[in-house]
This record gives sequence, structure tokens and C-alpha cells, in this order.
Amino acid sequence: MIVLKADIPEAGYGKKVVLRNVSINVEQSTIVGIIGPNGAGKSTLLKVLMGIVKTAHGTVSMDGKVITNHSSEENVRNGISFVPQGNRVFTELTVKENLEMGGYLLKDKVEIEKRLSSVLELFLDLKDRIKQDAGRLSGGEKQQLALARALMLQPKILLLDEPSLGLSPKLVTKAFETIYNINQQWKTTILIVEQKVREVLKITHHVYALRMGEVVFAGAPQQLQDSEELKRIFLL
Ligand SMILES: Nc1ncnc2c1ncn2[C@@H]1O[C@H](COP(=O)(O)OP(=O)(O)O)[C@@H](O)[C@H]1O
Ligand SMILES: [Mg+2]
Repeated sequence: MIVLKADIPEAGYGKKVVLRNVSINVEQSTIVGIIGPNGAGKSTLLKVLMGIVKTAHGTVSMDGKVITNHSSEENVRNGISFVPQGNRVFTELTVKENLEMGGYLLKDKVEIEKRLSSVLELFLDLKDRIKQDAGRLSGGEKQQLALARALMLQPKILLLDEPSLGLSPKLVTKAFETIYNINQQWKTTILIVEQKVREVLKITHHVYALRMGEVVFAGAPQQLQDSEELKRIFLL
């Protein structure tokens, strides 16, 4: 079953066209990767899906219902969580408060507590730092917190924009492990934008490669690894 579907003949910023003829399908409970060089339009694509960048001609649908240009607020209610590039957290708030913010749509205090403990099962390092100010966390821990916060509403689909950006090689491995575990344990559908191509291909079921706003490859990660030309373009 397809959870998220987008057909975008054109999208961009004012007169500047960034995406052309981009079509993507995300199957339920899979991890789908979007790779491509800097400036290819990866972040723009996620912003169109999230309704942050509006599209005049495109169509985005979720569970078969058209959601094109819905506000991000509506999309969150609909089960889409987005972790933008930079893994920002509220530095003045504690880890726990950050997670509670992630669950802001939940009214029931007991339910929030339940979610907190199930999210923390996936992020054991954060469990030990629950009362600490998020500003005092390391880069890797902030990234974990941004992911954990996005899971508080138990989204149907998680959109991740370069979660490994700025992390040391060891923490990059850990970040990908966590993302893989989220998908395995919660069956959460994940759409992940990444520049760490080798690593992302290991955890994805399907991958799209963008170049100058166009899809130049769509298929299984193995297929991409088998093509010398694509390997050269995407620096595998
Ligand atoms: N807010 C914006 N206004 C105008 N142009 C933008 C804006 N954001 C990104 N762009 C341009 O859109 C193109 C694609 O950017 P982006 O989607 O961020 O690429 P990627 O995430 O693949 O690096 C780039 O040429 C970039 O300069
Ligand atoms: Mg980007």
C-alpha cells in the first residue's frame, strides 16, 4: 500500500523552478531514500510534501487523500512528522520538555507519559539525560532528541532531512542504526534525504536520485550500486 504519493510537474520559489517532473511513491512500512548532490532540490521536495513550499501544479496525497498545499500543522495532525536539516531542538528546555513539546497534540497526560517511555526505549542515551537542558547535549544526542521528538505523535510517516549532517563517522553509523530500528520496531514509514549515500543505501528499500531537480534514478538500492555510471555521478 502506498502511504505517500507525489506528482510534481514543477515547484520552486517564485519564478525559480527547482523541481521538474518529480514523482515519488512511498510504500507503507518501508524506508525510502532520496539522494543527490547539493542544490539538487532534496530539501525543497520535502518542503513541498510538508506544505511549507506550495506547488501550483503538483499533487501530493496521503493514504489516497489529496493533501496538496495543506499547512504543516494539518499535515502533522494527519500523521506526517518532519525533522528539518540541522536537527534543531529547544536548547533552553530539558530533554523531557522537548519530548513533551513533540507530543503537543496529545491532550491526555497519561498518554504523553506512555509515549515518552516507549520513545525512550529506542533512545536509551536520552533516558539518562531526561532532566538535562537540551542545550548541553552533544551534536549526536541533539540529533537523537530531534528524532525522538518527531516520534512522540507516532507518525504514519517520518520525513528526515539529512539527519547525519555534521555528525562524526561513529555517530553517523549510530544515527542510521537508530533510523533502521525505528522502522523495524514501530513499522514507521520513513522518507530520508541523505548525502551519505553508501550508508543510506544499506537501510533503504527504495531510492530516488535527484539531479538538478529531476529524478535520474528510481529503484532498488542494489540497482544503483550495479551501475558504474550512477556510481560515478553519486560518488558511491
Ligand atoms: N528559500 C529559497 N528561495 C529561493 N531559492 C531557494 C530557496 N531554498 C532553496 N533554494 C534553491 O533551490 C535549489 C535547491 O535547493 P535545496 O532544495 O535546498 O537542495 P538540496 O537540499 O538538494 O541541497 C538551490 O538552487 C537553492 O539555491
Ligand atoms: Mg538540503
